[in-house]
Amino acid sequence: MERYYFDHNATTPIAPAVIDAMLPVLRDGFGNASSIHQPGQHAKQVLERARRQVANFLGCSPKEIVFTSGGTEADNLAILSVGGHIVTSNIEHPAILSACARAESFTLVEADANGLVHPSAIQDAIRPDTALVSIMHVNNELGAVQPIEEIARIAHDAGALFHSDGVQAAGRVPVNLKNIDFYSISGHKLNAPKGIGALFVRRGVDCLPRQFGGRQEQGRRAGTENVPACAAFGAACELARPDLTALRDRLEQGILAQVPQAVVNGANAPRVANTTNIRFAGIEGEAMVIALDLRGFAVSSGAACSSGAVEPSHVLTAIGLTREQAKSSIRFSLGLGNTVEQVDALIGAVVASVAHLRRLSPVYV
Ligand SMILES: Cc1ncc(COP(=O)(O)O)c(C=O)c1O
Repeated sequence: MERYYFDHNATTPIAPAVIDAMLPVLRDGFGNASSIHQPGQHAKQVLERARRQVANFLGCSPKEIVFTSGGTEADNLAILSVGGHIVTSNIEHPAILSACARAESFTLVEADANGLVHPSAIQDAIRPDTALVSIMHVNNELGAVQPIEEIARIAHDAGALFHSDGVQAAGRVPVNLKNIDFYSISGHKLNAPKGIGALFVRRGVDCLPRQFGGRQEQGRRAGTENVPACAAFGAACELARPDLTALRDRLEQGILAQVPQAVVNGANAPRVANTTNIRFAGIEGEAMVIALDLRGFAVSSGAACSSGAVEPSHVLTAIGLTREQAKSSIRFSLGLGNTVEQVDALIGAVVASVAHLRRLSPVYV
């Protein structure tokens, strides 16, 4: 059976060009980038080239890039390296929310029914002791693109720093770091391997380490660098990326035209081109994920399994969906390699799976 992947917001396949860039480093570039001998200096060169590639991609200086183990670590580093009160939103990734719970104090701003965080709500939440405002660039479940330029301005006017979690944005929407102090990105959302990411830290902004040891990454992140993964990440930053708007719209419109009682969650927000989140009345999202998997399609549901219980997504309930609506939602996220033929096949599989599951559903009449 052919298998088609429509879950690129969860993770992406490693691009062939990225594997080509990584393999020689894995094979021959084993040196420690802190060593002064030739193998060490070779590793250092590979590492610094990767840093330049990531910096070019983000439009910043290589000195402003701190390599991390991924998006979670980059988010944690930004949140916990600044003391004081933090303003964030109720639709952030757990990497932000759980880090804020360990910070001195924080205020959660509520997103609206489309999953947008309003700059005026940020303004109202800022206190005299607010040190940092952290609002994601693109939401991972809905694809909502947040007005981060305006929010950054409000943070700075109040004397606070601004961080954005750009894990779902980088490579998918233009990134302008002009007024941003910290920006997190993750390799595995960008066709690089898992376990590598970066935090942009504006020159002159303090970033206290959260991990202690050697002086790597300008003293901001101790530990021998994962040079092959950095090389892969750098190569991934140079990949050409197609605009996925037409494919996503074809998928969305195809489903809405053929499936009754299907509604796009957060449809009225500006959205990243690769994501659509649709709820299907009377369907259990988990059952739908399994039904589509059996037909060869990987998608994701609006629910997460925590401690053995299937809980509705905090993002979908934050925008006002009931528990049942959230649990009946499916996220489709496109990426490199998806084609019109795959999208049309997915539409057919969704139509058939929904019809089948609704026939079995005790709640759908
Ligand atoms: C918005 C967002 N932030 C942070 C992360 C965490 O990134 P990583 O998996 O690289 O730790 C994710 C991953 O799902 C994400 O979607």
